[in-house]
Amino acid sequence: MTEAKKPLRSSHWFGGADKNSFIHRGWMRNQGIASHQFAGKPIIGICNTFSELTPCNAHFRQLAEHVKRGVIEAGGFPLEFPVFSNGESNLRPTAMLTRNLASMDVEEAIRGNPIDGVILLTGCDKTTPALLMGAASCDVPALVVSGGPMLNGRHKGGTIGSGTGVWQLSEQVKAGTISIHDFMAAEADMSRSAGHCNTMGTASTMASMAEALGVTLPHNAAIPAVDSRRSVLAHMSGMRIVQMVWDDLRLSKILTREAFCNTIRTIAAIGGSTNAVIHLKAIAGRIGVALDLDDWTRWGRGAPTIVNLQPSGKFLMEDFYYAGGLPAVLRRLGEAGLIPFPDALTVNGDTLWNNVREAPIHDDEVIRPIDKPLAADGGLCVLRGNLAPRGAVLKPSAATPSLLKHAGRAVVFENFDHYKSRINDPDLPVDAQSVMVLKNCGPLGYPGMAEVGNMGLPPKLLAQGVTDLVRISDARMSGTAYGTVVLHVSPEARAGGPLAIVRDGDWIEIDAMGGRIHLDISDEVLQARLAAREQQPAETAPVAPPGGYRGLYLEHVLQADEGCDFDFLVGCRGADIPAHSH
Ligand code: FES
Ligand code: MG
Repeated sequence: MTEAKKPLRSSHWFGGADKNSFIHRGWMRNQGIASHQFAGKPIIGICNTFSELTPCNAHFRQLAEHVKRGVIEAGGFPLEFPVFSNGESNLRPTAMLTRNLASMDVEEAIRGNPIDGVILLTGCDKTTPALLMGAASCDVPALVVSGGPMLNGRHKGGTIGSGTGVWQLSEQVKAGTISIHDFMAAEADMSRSAGHCNTMGTASTMASMAEALGVTLPHNAAIPAVDSRRSVLAHMSGMRIVQMVWDDLRLSKILTREAFCNTIRTIAAIGGSTNAVIHLKAIAGRIGVALDLDDWTRWGRGAPTIVNLQPSGKFLMEDFYYAGGLPAVLRRLGEAGLIPFPDALTVNGDTLWNNVREAPIHDDEVIRPIDKPLAADGGLCVLRGNLAPRGAVLKPSAATPSLLKHAGRAVVFENFDHYKSRINDPDLPVDAQSVMVLKNCGPLGYPGMAEVGNMGLPPKLLAQGVTDLVRISDARMSGTAYGTVVLHVSPEARAGGPLAIVRDGDWIEIDAMGGRIHLDISDEVLQARLAAREQQPAETAPVAPPGGYRGLYLEHVLQADEGCDFDFLVGCRGADIPAHSH
């Protein structure tokens, strides 16, 4: 073990003999801390998103205890601290509204405290990007420990996946094929252990993203929350972060552009959530790495989806772990020459490729061989055109192949309330060829950019057996959702994007694989409609009430193609020692 050769950041709090260090140490002593614990041990902050209102992270007190054991074993001193917890299932209007708030909390907590290195305890969707964004803006040694997915849901003798099962069953209720009682009974069957969503939704995508970026130890993504090997991973992570402090292995050495490119490729291979496009951009922005939507085309398109998990495929995260987890996926990619930068450094001090080159692969059905993919070309599609000048995204592995190139007449919903008031109307002019368009659900229009882009199909089409329609919006969708859904249209309608001027009956063409989205009107008509719109009040009322955090959000949030960060938060501000408090 390396001894305390270099001054620790925390020594600026705990290392002196003056009034200020008296204050810093003195008050800490009320926790029963002995003098020697302040002397030369790396202080490891454990950044905890525990909350009973964030069920996916409700087991994090125990997880933190395992991290602490590892930190202590390696000669560090762990200090746990809470940060804002973004819980996807309860927070309204959407946990995305407060992702940046949480990131600010994390950044200021790290910079303002005697912390040498930090373990980020993440689970539910937004908690992973929020903590990585905050830590990246400080650029301290940091290591992510995810809370792990729930065990497979078990329902009527089969499995049921988080979120995906909800979308499926609610459509079945509307189509009249199951009763409301069957629907309600599935609740308890779906969520039967601690952990986050067990599908390849956003939480599992974020955990896989963190592993592919190299900011976790191998196997972080897939070990179930309640598997004792998750506790071991937490312990080993606690040990490792102490050495990372001695080695000054800061986030900027891991979060390189190469790591982001590897991650885009990995997200294609796992059939990851479209939300990754927004979060990865926001994290890159915080560490100062240039990344744009075209990188998703450059590094993601053409890559096979080989992980057969819901919502794109069949299985769940528990199966994924038993099949070999993310190391097995990376091995398959690497052996096919599909890891763009195999030498990218990871937090264990070794390269991404060295970590996985001998990873066992136990199940070819769950983690498919490269030549038997779930989707041969599974990378997220970026679409551009007069309807989305700054881009839109679509997840082909979760779409209906025959709809990926499609043209049809628009059925327009001005906002989500308009959608809800209209969708059940038996006279709605919609058929299986129609293109559903939803406006005003972007970062500004539905503050937070809610996950309403996979709007449910009209009941009259469901009753006819229609299972998918092309849907276009400036919203996001849950990572657990599926369908031929064009999302994140930028600029959004509320920000004056052309989506705002689509009308019922307009002809829209999409070619997802070709990266094209087109509203079939002339430039002159488009400009005339935009000009006419500017002279009219917006279709939806201004967002009230002003002020507070929401006011800050509305003034500063960036569009989806820029990662929805706040303009003033982009960038790395480091972790220089702040001025004294007394
Ligand atoms: Fe928390 Fe899905 S609701 S991960
Ligand atoms: Mg989700």
